[in-house]
Amino acid sequence: MTTTPTTPQDAAREKLAKGMTGLLADTYTLYNSTQVCHWNVEGSNFKELHDLFEEQYTGLAEAVDTIAERIRAMNFYTPGTLADIARQTRVEQPESFRDTAAMLRHLIEAHRVAAHRIRATLELAEHQPDEATADVLVERLRSHEKTTWMLESHLDDGSRRLTRLQPEREAVGATS
Ligand SMILES: [Fe+2]
Repeated sequence: MTTTPTTPQDAAREKLAKGMTGLLADTYTLYNSTQVCHWNVEGSNFKELHDLFEEQYTGLAEAVDTIAERIRAMNFYTPGTLADIARQTRVEQPESFRDTAAMLRHLIEAHRVAAHRIRATLELAEHQPDEATADVLVERLRSHEKTTWMLESHLDDGSRRLTRLQPEREAVGATS
């Protein structure tokens, strides 16, 4: 049975569910892109990247299921056909996946797009508040940030700028 929101609370909850369906589409697209990279990667790092991409798309497939089932637990139907995914995803796919560096850059950007959507949706979940949905989102955000780091570490172009922490100065004692 479908219903239309009648109160501001209902409308806010529907907006949160739409954020989740958007994230479902982003995650599904990213899962597909990562699997295509797994199939087509070539070169001296073949084995390492072929295995890394498999580990990543397996995790993304699990995430798709978690997000979809969370939408059902929120009492909304989960859109999930390929047409639904194509309509709602913000993750762009290239015409073809070429060299390794292009694959890595594409995936890094796709993880950033998903993370961006998560941060916006997390605000809605915290505002509800809907702790269970927020928990799913925080877990997904942590995973995207970790994967971004791993992918960037295979790119030797200095695109990731790291800060080396300086040790805190010892407080000067009053007796010196
Ligand atoms: Fe495989």
